[in-house]
Amino acid sequence: MKETGLRRWVPTCGVFGMKLSRRHFVTSTLAGSVLARGQRLRAENAGNLVEFHLEAAEKWLAVGGRQGFLYAYNGTVPGPLLEVSAGDTLRVQFRNSLPEETNLHFHGLHAPPSGNADNSFLMVGPGETRVYQIEVPANHPSGTFWIHPHIHGKTARQVSRGLAMPLVVRGGLEQIPEIGMAPEVSLVIQDFNLDAAGYPVEPQGMSAMQGRQGGLVTTNGGLNPTIPIAPGGLVRLHLLNASSSKFYTLVLEGHPLLQVASSGGALPTLRQLDRLSLAPGERAQVLVSGVQRPGSYRLTALGGNMGSPAATLTYTESAVAATALPEQLVPVHTLPPPERVRSFVLGESMSRGMGMGRTAAMSGTQFTINGLAFDPARVDTTVKLGDVEDWEFINPSMMAHPMHIHTNPFQLVDGSGNAEAAWRDIAVAPAGGRVRVRMQFLDYPGKTFYHCHILDHEDLGMMGILEIVE
Ligand code: C2O
Ligand code: CU
Ligand code: CU
Repeated sequence: MKETGLRRWVPTCGVFGMKLSRRHFVTSTLAGSVLARGQRLRAENAGNLVEFHLEAAEKWLAVGGRQGFLYAYNGTVPGPLLEVSAGDTLRVQFRNSLPEETNLHFHGLHAPPSGNADNSFLMVGPGETRVYQIEVPANHPSGTFWIHPHIHGKTARQVSRGLAMPLVVRGGLEQIPEIGMAPEVSLVIQDFNLDAAGYPVEPQGMSAMQGRQGGLVTTNGGLNPTIPIAPGGLVRLHLLNASSSKFYTLVLEGHPLLQVASSGGALPTLRQLDRLSLAPGERAQVLVSGVQRPGSYRLTALGGNMGSPAATLTYTESAVAATALPEQLVPVHTLPPPERVRSFVLGESMSRGMGMGRTAAMSGTQFTINGLAFDPARVDTTVKLGDVEDWEFINPSMMAHPMHIHTNPFQLVDGSGNAEAAWRDIAVAPAGGRVRVRMQFLDYPGKTFYHCHILDHEDLGMMGILEIVE
């Protein structure tokens, strides 16, 4: 492991104290306030089979200092953190105790879109149970993914009521000793729009058009949790923007964010950032190095609650010996030039009849891709298993659309046609601009989805069906 350029994150003065073992780290992290809600879910583990019991139910919960009547996975908002390793079989025994149908989508996982795997065509009715089972490939990128419902027309509503949980795939990143030993903190950002009594408010007209935005922005279901860091030590953050429409830009006072994973998984090299943007649905993993004077430092989510921090990094008393950080992480090969380039023009149609008390759907507002709103009975795009394609999302509209594709991760392609050596599953088509991504359709034939991750846009039609054929 090379150490170039890392000295600046390592304190130069003497640091004393025991180096904590991984076990100790994990224990102290779990005991901290950050994971007080949405604890890790204990798996029943037999060999490579990791089995979880998951229930979605409606309940009253404390959220951001208020009471809200929310939708929770296993009783918490956000849901518990679920961990698997590349090569594991993930089995989820799911029970729907909600008053409406729902399902599970394993956002970002390279998994079959069919059968009882990551099949968003499945529906689980109220009171029903279903077993989801996914073989996580042994070469699956390690990274932070997530689980949320995927019911066309109701996705924004269900996610914005709280149904979201991080899913961490262990692999290459954990094998890097400095990273594997760092204590971990998961930060899930969600916004809520509750009425005076605590019931979620459904957006009307323009607010559905823009995507629902809640004034109550929470981290792990609370406000401003503490992220403990030992002087000289590292902390590894799993960041998830589980808001249905809001974009956040994260800035940490006095500390660069050292990104080790993008939405699709581990990066090939460490990236030092002053700020990190997360579109709706996006994740990242960053390291923070405890090189500042002991104290408290604000992690601000610009776009969140004005002026209030999303979390606070707080130095603990006992220092640890500083560790240098690795520059090289997990190799990522860039995809070869594409067999085919496709264009997707993002559009919106605003029809007459918008007005007070009418929802966007009632007024006939639709969001479209290549002029068409989603139709579950239509295949929009057919590709060949094994092919590499470039998809360009062209956005003539006045607002950004974060575009997401299921089943296979992609790489961003720049203006000269070069792919970025990093996996992602969300790419933002900026207002009046375009974004191009490259992907290879590997392993899994079947029908799957691509859509805008502003979930009201997805619900209002900005989604298409991709069929991967052999
Ligand atoms: Cu996170 Cu199809 O979505
Ligand atoms: Cu997804
Ligand atoms: Cu959109």
